[in-house]
Amino acid sequence: MTEYVYLNGEYIEADKAVLPIRTHAFLYGTSVFEGIRAYYNSEEEQMYAFRVKEHYQRLLASAKVMWMKSPYTLEEYAKITRELLKKNGYKTDAYIRPTLYKSSIKVGPTLTDNEDSFLIFTTPFGNYFGTEKGLKLCVSSWRRTSDNAIPPRAKVSGAYANSALIKTDAHESGFDDAVVLSESGEVTEGSAMNIFLVINGVLTTTNTTNDILVGVTRNTVIELAHELGIPVKERSIDRTELYNADEIFCCGTGAQIVPVESVDHRIIGDGKTGKITKQIQDLYYDVVRGKVEKFKGWCMPVYD
Ligand SMILES: Cc1ncc(COP(=O)(O)O)c(C=O)c1O
Repeated sequence: MTEYVYLNGEYIEADKAVLPIRTHAFLYGTSVFEGIRAYYNSEEEQMYAFRVKEHYQRLLASAKVMWMKSPYTLEEYAKITRELLKKNGYKTDAYIRPTLYKSSIKVGPTLTDNEDSFLIFTTPFGNYFGTEKGLKLCVSSWRRTSDNAIPPRAKVSGAYANSALIKTDAHESGFDDAVVLSESGEVTEGSAMNIFLVINGVLTTTNTTNDILVGVTRNTVIELAHELGIPVKERSIDRTELYNADEIFCCGTGAQIVPVESVDHRIIGDGKTGKITKQIQDLYYDVVRGKVEKFKGWCMPVYD
């Protein structure tokens, strides 16, 4: 089946979508992007794109940091996304990658006097991590870039050189991923996911000011915890609190809700998926497929 992408205001065949090699975003990593999931609900034969509005809101916030003008409104972004998914007609879960990028053909890093363009591609997408076992994490020797270097709050493609080093070095050392510390030594997040600890029954996560990408899934988890009556605390987290946590899980659009088995070879709890993690996981997987009426507003139906 032909796969389409959205580029320069048109839906075109994916293999015809090419960019000039001197595109600014390619030379300097000057694009901002989102990763959105769409879930196929086979009983309803419907596809639901999850929290589209919140993802595009964050895209616009990232764009502002990077001196970009958005060519579309939030409603227009949602409409284009839906149209593209419809054209691609998946009957399976999918990943959506909208990108706003500096498109001038230009040498030199300046962001102003530099055009902005928008594209989206989509692809069928299963689980990013295996679902059988929890993650084995290490604490990375790399530090998260700080808000005053490359702000993690903005989802800038160039910043993912940091994630790439973190993830690759963790992998090469036999871990699934890593927890990254800030320049001041506090826990931030994983290479591309936020982190939650359960400490004495309290779901604990970093502050939004701890050099993290403020995840849409992080917000979803907090909302679901409220629904389940689980107390939530946002605060700075020390490295050794990881070792002593009762449960840990990571979350993100790609990662979804994934339990952590160990950190730096210290087993978390009994090494199995914890009770609170499981409660959040179960509710999350129902919510994203549009199975929970109360949260259906987060799920954008794709097919008519
Ligand atoms: C660095 C980083 N942190 C956290 C997340 C989780 O964000 P979200 O839940 O919005 O996907 C991501 C996911 O893309 C990420 O790249």
